[in-house]
Amino acid sequence: MSRPEAPRFITIEGLDGSGGTTQLRMLHAAFLARGEACIVTREPSDGPVGKLIRAQLGAPPESAVRDGVLPYLFAADRRDHLDRVVLPALARGESVLSDRYALSSFAYQAEAHGLDRVMRLNQDFPAPHLTILLELDPAVCLTRILARGLPRDRFETLERLRTIQQGYEAAVRAVSGGAAPWNIVPIDASADVDTIHARVVEAVWPWRA
Ligand code: TYD
Repeated sequence: MSRPEAPRFITIEGLDGSGGTTQLRMLHAAFLARGEACIVTREPSDGPVGKLIRAQLGAPPESAVRDGVLPYLFAADRRDHLDRVVLPALARGESVLSDRYALSSFAYQAEAHGLDRVMRLNQDFPAPHLTILLELDPAVCLTRILARGLPRDRFETLERLRTIQQGYEAAVRAVSGGAAPWNIVPIDASADVDTIHARVVEAVWPWRA
């Protein structure tokens, strides 16, 4: 495989507690060390809709929007994030590394909304060039989440993490078929951070291996 000329849109996915944010930071450093321009971003984004979503995820259940509202908010945030951050960076020639993207909606919102409906809501958005999927046992994820000592959001219970894991499996099957399959590389996230980073690097620059 030869080195692509164009900047790339790379997303990192996985359950809460699977280590995506750490790996994204390490990948960003690897890009910069290679002299390749790139930015780091995330969903929910830091734009107005993303801020609304974060507030809602942390709000008490009696006053927060129900799960069935979230697919619309995440889709609105994604449109805003693409227009405001992702597409302009790619147009400037910079790669974009995003902590979560549409695969999160397919995995997390399918329970409340149905996978087909969530996919339809996201059908206008471009597929990333590469998605790294960090795979880790939900019980291990929960142990890590609890160790952080931060308030937990609505998804951070063992039961929901197990459902979301199944959601990821169904989502990967759904986007791997069809005329334009997503390029998804699953990585065992139970290893130490440096080993996982080495696997991420292999996935991002396979022609170097
Ligand atoms: P997360 O990246 O975990 O943010 P933080 O580190 O600030 O907690 O994202 C917040 C939550 O949002 C996480 O539990 C996954 C969820 N989420 C969805 O349910 N659907 C989506 O489309 C996205 C992008 C995230």
